[in-house]
Amino acid sequence: MSILAKQNYRGAYHVSPQVNWMNDPNGMVYFEGEYHLFFQHHPNDVTCGPMHWGHLVSKDLVTWDELDIALFPDEHGTIFSGSAVVDWNNTTGFFENGPGLVAIFTHHLEVEGSHQLQRQSLAYSTDKGRTWVKYEGNPVLEHETFIDFRDPKVFWHKETNRWGMIIACGQTVCLYHSPDLLTWTLGSEFGSGIGSHDGVWECPDLFPLEVDGEAANVKWVMLVSIGADPAFVEGSRTQYFTGDFDGVTFTPDAASMEVRWIDYGRDNYAGITWSDIPAEDGRRLFIGWMSNWKYANQTPTEGFRGAMTIPRELTLETISGIATLVQKPAIELECARRPVLTLNQATASEVEEALRQLHLVSYEIHTELPINQSLGFKVRVGALNETIVGVDASAATIYVDRTKSGLHSFHADFLGVHAAKLTSVGENLSLRIFVDAGSVEVFGNEGQAVITDLIYPDADATGISFFPAHSPAIIPSLSIYELIPSAAD
Ligand code: FRU
Repeated sequence: MSILAKQNYRGAYHVSPQVNWMNDPNGMVYFEGEYHLFFQHHPNDVTCGPMHWGHLVSKDLVTWDELDIALFPDEHGTIFSGSAVVDWNNTTGFFENGPGLVAIFTHHLEVEGSHQLQRQSLAYSTDKGRTWVKYEGNPVLEHETFIDFRDPKVFWHKETNRWGMIIACGQTVCLYHSPDLLTWTLGSEFGSGIGSHDGVWECPDLFPLEVDGEAANVKWVMLVSIGADPAFVEGSRTQYFTGDFDGVTFTPDAASMEVRWIDYGRDNYAGITWSDIPAEDGRRLFIGWMSNWKYANQTPTEGFRGAMTIPRELTLETISGIATLVQKPAIELECARRPVLTLNQATASEVEEALRQLHLVSYEIHTELPINQSLGFKVRVGALNETIVGVDASAATIYVDRTKSGLHSFHADFLGVHAAKLTSVGENLSLRIFVDAGSVEVFGNEGQAVITDLIYPDADATGISFFPAHSPAIIPSLSIYELIPSAAD
């Protein structure tokens, strides 16, 4: 195990910066065999500060190499969130010798005695993202009235044969289009009178997905993260809308009149999806920042602060007649598995007996449970700690209870029980629980209900147990895998 992996609360299979501060994922793009994951980074401290783009690359979405900082602040300001694309056809004119990468990001400037100025700029790379040149014509897009005007997510819109951009504008998003990434035209604005406005709108994304995998039935999904207004105990959260997009206007479905969250835990924020995943793969891959602005600056890690969720595949599935966003762990994580335990049709006491032998920190529990009984697992159990991942049969919810998980006094709103409704009901419930040094991620019913929560248990909290102790339940299946990516060996 590497020295870094031994640091308190540093996940073995969650990506985090080697030192100092991380927030939003940025510039996620796949190019020439590498997944790029840039991130909001303050390289001089463990708290939020002047933003840079840190840079991680991976060939398998599980093991990551941290490269040199990609983008540094300059005369236009610090480098806030944004995206990256492959300019396959040299629409920008930056690439004479084959395709290259273009980053589209927000330049954030504090104007003395006045307000903040947020404008959009470009940088490009001709060497697979190793070095970046800022475009001399920066900024390329500004707005006269929006004070919050940030986090451009750019995508190629093949139907209109031009680039599209979705960008956060305070309490709405704006949709722009461009032939060349250099000049942008406003198409429409979306968001008044719809969705949650509990905080500033940030980090949007917009992409098409087939409903139930049917090529003839495509809908567009819009993600919008909302910042942590102190009035709301939940802090930062990400909502989504489904609808149609014609290259100019997004028209929401009737189902989008209700607020829908992508995650019912507290720690999955500002997530966006990868650009340029090859057509033969075809997945829509997502990663989120595993924290919450409520307490992100106070979490008790040492030497670094911030990590990402596990990578997830997003799909749209019809549930109760409504196209619903579903999240599954990226299949690549299965390559990091080491089987530890497998039981089938076991009684609760057989499960409890088998779990008592185990001491693990970084692992996955993959199980099917009877849906008609309240039961569950306690993970990261020690003398003083336990984190409960349970099923509440009467409420038809799964939940994470982190009230006894470990350190919590860094913020009054950290303690809590977070529940997610189970939407489709069969005889059994499938549950995948990803536990790591500082987090729990739960995927109920194949990703229809998701809870992502940070936890800070004591070092001795490596036990696992099943409850209730004398449950009459028969557990159809239970597998436990230790998760050890080879880079952490
Ligand atoms: C979201 C956010 C973005 C902004 C960035 C600054 O977490 O507030 O809107 O670009 O973080 O680090």
